[in-house]
Amino acid sequence: MYLTDESTINQLANLVAGDFPGLNVNVDNQKVTYLDNAATTLKPKAMVDAMSEYYLGISSNVHRGKSYMLEVVSSRFESCRYKVAELINCSGNEVVMLSNTTAAINLVATGLNLTKEDKVLVLSDAHHSNLLPWMKHASVDMVKFTDNGMLDMDHFHQLLKQSPKVVAISHCSNVTGIYHPLEEMAKAAKEAGAIVVVDAAQSIPHRKIDVRKLDIDFLAFSAHKMAGPTGVGILYGRKDMLETLDPMSVGGGMVDWVDTEHYRLRKIPHRYEAGTPDIAGAYGFGATLDYLNKIGFEQLEKHDREMSTLMLNMAQERDYLQVIGNPNTDRGAVLSLGIKQVDELDDIARILSDTYGIVCRHGHLCAQPFVSAQTSGQVIRVSAYMYNTSDDIRSFFAALDEIGPMFFL
Ligand code: ALA
Repeated sequence: MYLTDESTINQLANLVAGDFPGLNVNVDNQKVTYLDNAATTLKPKAMVDAMSEYYLGISSNVHRGKSYMLEVVSSRFESCRYKVAELINCSGNEVVMLSNTTAAINLVATGLNLTKEDKVLVLSDAHHSNLLPWMKHASVDMVKFTDNGMLDMDHFHQLLKQSPKVVAISHCSNVTGIYHPLEEMAKAAKEAGAIVVVDAAQSIPHRKIDVRKLDIDFLAFSAHKMAGPTGVGILYGRKDMLETLDPMSVGGGMVDWVDTEHYRLRKIPHRYEAGTPDIAGAYGFGATLDYLNKIGFEQLEKHDREMSTLMLNMAQERDYLQVIGNPNTDRGAVLSLGIKQVDELDDIARILSDTYGIVCRHGHLCAQPFVSAQTSGQVIRVSAYMYNTSDDIRSFFAALDEIGPMFFL
């Protein structure tokens, strides 16, 4: 008997099941159980329909003329920007439409013109995308984890005393699903005079984020991790801060005029959107945002929290599993497990997929320094979204129990 409200999980999953054609996919005549949502989620049909509307209907470029077609497409493209602005509570001109979270963080890390003299605080569980751009352009200090698998807040406050130029916070870990105390950390970082950059790729699919309520300068996330299309990523920048960035890419669509020696940048956010953007992606993400609003973030968060509890409870019942990160803290439905005495998990992941139709992720999860510090080998990760049922999680653990004797029991 778990202290989980499985009816909450299954109610939402059943409600949305018909909207996600990907749930019915069979591979080798076997139904797929999709539990790799931290990597990318399945897509609602409404998103695909909106993208088809672009590709099969009025299908021009954006912002490059005055024709009827261009205006129709440009205004639909811009409506996505405004839906994002409404989602996170900012102005439309504070939303830059890029290709993914990685591109967004790279734009900030490059655009701030940092030098190796500049310190950037990162969390030790950071995804490579919130680590490598800072390593490349500045000097990185990592906030440690405590022995009980929590971010070491004393170390964080200690490092702030060294006046970092930037504090790059990962809101929710893509390895552990642990939510770090964003509000408290952002406030402390601001008090220390730092620029605050937030990687919200794993949190915003499940929890509402209000950038006005938080003391932050930049926030990055990807559409594809929240039932949206691949190829669309968002950078929010507070107006005054966004204006200070040096554009990383220059070219078409981001200038007001050019002569043989000079050019004048367009106003924000367009100066950061050189080249033709993912127009179909913007149509699709707009439809996804309508869809998520219809479901409601309260429901999404509830499902995520209950799923997290169920996963954790089931993992903790099994002695052969090591839960990565502290189990007794604020977590979402992302759980990474080490398997005792088994370092290489390729074969297990392959059997889960080929024999049981279970899709999850294993390895170092683009967070290699963290995973290497937590366990001697690879981890296997399950991650859920709104359409996953409690049976999906049970199937995963039942499969591990069956495979176990071959490898580790
Ligand atoms: N960032 C994605 C993951 O964690 C790709 O799997």
